[in-house]
Amino acid sequence: PFPIYRKLRESTPVRFDEDRESWDVFRYEDVHRILKDPATFSSRRGLEVRGETLLTMDQPKHTHMRNLVNKAFTPKAINDLAPRITSITHDLLDQVLSKGQMDIVHDLATPLPVIVIAELLGVPSKDRKLFKDWSDTLVKGVEGNSQEAFAKMVAERDVAVRELSEYFRAILAERRSKPEDDLVSALLEAEIDGEKLEEDEILQFCILLLVAGNETTTNLITNAIRLMTEQPAIQEQVRTHPELVKTTVEETLRYYPPIVAIGRVATEDVEIGGQQIQKGQQVVSWVGSANRDPDKFEDPDTFLPDRKPNAHMGFGFGIHFCLGAPLARLEGQIALEILLSKLGDMQFTKSKLSPIPSPFVFGVKSYPITFTA
Ligand code: HEM
Repeated sequence: PFPIYRKLRESTPVRFDEDRESWDVFRYEDVHRILKDPATFSSRRGLEVRGETLLTMDQPKHTHMRNLVNKAFTPKAINDLAPRITSITHDLLDQVLSKGQMDIVHDLATPLPVIVIAELLGVPSKDRKLFKDWSDTLVKGVEGNSQEAFAKMVAERDVAVRELSEYFRAILAERRSKPEDDLVSALLEAEIDGEKLEEDEILQFCILLLVAGNETTTNLITNAIRLMTEQPAIQEQVRTHPELVKTTVEETLRYYPPIVAIGRVATEDVEIGGQQIQKGQQVVSWVGSANRDPDKFEDPDTFLPDRKPNAHMGFGFGIHFCLGAPLARLEGQIALEILLSKLGDMQFTKSKLSPIPSPFVFGVKSYPITFTA
């Protein structure tokens, strides 16, 4: 989509899309301004049928909730997970190493974040399979584009949410009587000004972590490997200079961001890029375009593994900046480092890609590669 973004950024940087009945914004400066101003550009998109989550709250409620969950989601707590993420990655790769071929999506990038989040939340290992099925259902897109297919997806998601809620309700009850060293126990403990989270808020939040964190991290890992196979010279460069892994992950978030668009609703009439947006209208910020804006990034269509500074908006910007960014970064870095050290000469084996059919997501459904041991 990137050449299209470029064309639109140059020709109609702010335009009204008649089909989707929403405004599209393509320039870095404009996207930045929108995400920086949550009072004018609200996150209450009304997309969620199942009540509010952090992602769709405005201030002051958002601040309160975010402060509470930040306490349980500190960078320190996340960094402690590094040895475990490393060992899960090795285990997953050991199953395919002797074959000389694997599907990055299926064999590594999908299971890794699901296992990590399950452990973080404190889901017992005997329930992992159940847990993975629910989270798969939650992120599965519509198959086909008929009304029926859409209705089927909504119905399946509702069932998964109900079952997951029941499941977490039971875990919550257990942890309430006997706290453990996991996120659910920490969320039960967290308080601000003597106020704790309500049970339903914790349930919603656990489910949000699955929805917001799994497919995105899958796509980050896959997009990084995709880039490495499209540009073998970069694969070699990072393999021989592993100290570049950190900046390579950041550059992947800029160049191939898993989420390319972020929605808001205008709370008042406002002007952006010379266009008059009316109160109540939807505004889509095309991060995938902003990340390639030459007014912000030198040589924006070139992937530079050592690009610095790199103020990409792959994790959004402002008050809703991705809560899971430290975790996603850590998983991305560990996966990339281990892949490059264990797998030589990674090559994509198909001639056609299988894109995920959502305009807001940049990723593929499978990515088969060959490699040398
Ligand atoms: C918010 C991207 C991984 C949890 C966001 C936003 C973006 C994003 C763009 C902002 C949305 C907005 O402004 O409306 C990504 C990407 C990821 C990733 C690209 C992987 C590479 C994760 C993970 C978790 C997570 C691993 C949790 C385990 C959240 C939550 C929010 C959020 C809870 C809402 C924060 C708030 O509203 O205050 N993410 N995310 N994300 N993300 Fe992520």
